[in-house]
Amino acid sequence: MQTVTPEFIAGMPKAELHLHIEGTLEPDLMFYLAERNGVSLPFETVEDVRKAYHFSNLQDFLDIYYQGARVLLTEDDFYDLTLEYLQRAYEQNVWHTEIFFDPQTHTERGVAFETVLNGITAALKQADEDWGITSRLIMCFLRHLDEQAAFDTLAQAMPHRDKIYGVGLDSSEVGHPPSKFERVFAKAREAGFVPVAHAGEEGPAEYIWEALDRLHVARLDHGNRAVDDPALVERLAQDQIALTMCPLSNLKLCVVKDLKDHPLRRLMQKGVRVTVNSDDPAYFGGYMNENYLAIARALELTRGEVLTLAGNAFAASFVSESRRKELFDGLARYVASFA
Ligand code: HPA
Ligand code: ZN
Repeated sequence: MQTVTPEFIAGMPKAELHLHIEGTLEPDLMFYLAERNGVSLPFETVEDVRKAYHFSNLQDFLDIYYQGARVLLTEDDFYDLTLEYLQRAYEQNVWHTEIFFDPQTHTERGVAFETVLNGITAALKQADEDWGITSRLIMCFLRHLDEQAAFDTLAQAMPHRDKIYGVGLDSSEVGHPPSKFERVFAKAREAGFVPVAHAGEEGPAEYIWEALDRLHVARLDHGNRAVDDPALVERLAQDQIALTMCPLSNLKLCVVKDLKDHPLRRLMQKGVRVTVNSDDPAYFGGYMNENYLAIARALELTRGEVLTLAGNAFAASFVSESRRKELFDGLARYVASFA
């Protein structure tokens, strides 16, 4: 059996479905923007920043991640951030990407909703024109904030339904179950936003049930803890609810002790549509190719399984059927090139 090499992964067309744009802020760009905007950082050097990136749980990471985001102030900042990510996506053969953004992280600091949105969408347009990368934008509510703040954010998004495809739920999970946002999600769905939610990263399987039955999500972000509940695994397989899993994130945030313990393969073998993604690559030590390679090595995945993962992401993407066909055709050509 042919082994999965870095070259095999690098050459494979991919889609990324779980990526926080604020989590692509590399230390170099953080310093550059801090300087450009006159924002002071609690770090002296890029080395200091990297040394601070040791986390024992989700909250440890979020504290540093919200700190870093303070350097983002202007439309150009959001454009530069997004284009830098898209450049890497292009270099890694990512053909389609679905990007989360957290408006509340910025509006709370006095940055206008439109400043964030216009900077990001200008870069998305550029990447489509220059490199043919297609994308969708998903606006996340910060779950540690209250329901009213989420309603206010939804109201700000209403005039921009042409640019924002879906709504999601992120930040500190435990103690902030999906049910807290049931009414906001109902209103968002009514307005035409496609719902997704982070669930079962640190929170229990019960939170995944809530995301399914109370938020009516089209896709689940992380979902690791589904393995604790056989009835839930069956439901996910039956309804083909995709999980956007993030191996290096799970390792860095101690969701798994060792990647060998990661539930991705067990879930895949039970018929769940699992996918591989990078989450916050600037903080977790790897973009798409590094995530694929790490999980393939740890779980000794076959080339066939890796191709299934790539295909799962195309199947679970929020793309037109004609774009989906292009993605699958690209994957088929890649497979044929090895025959
Ligand atoms: N989980 C929850 N919130 C987040 C994450 C995550 O992995 N990344 C950025 N915000
Ligand atoms: Zn995430």
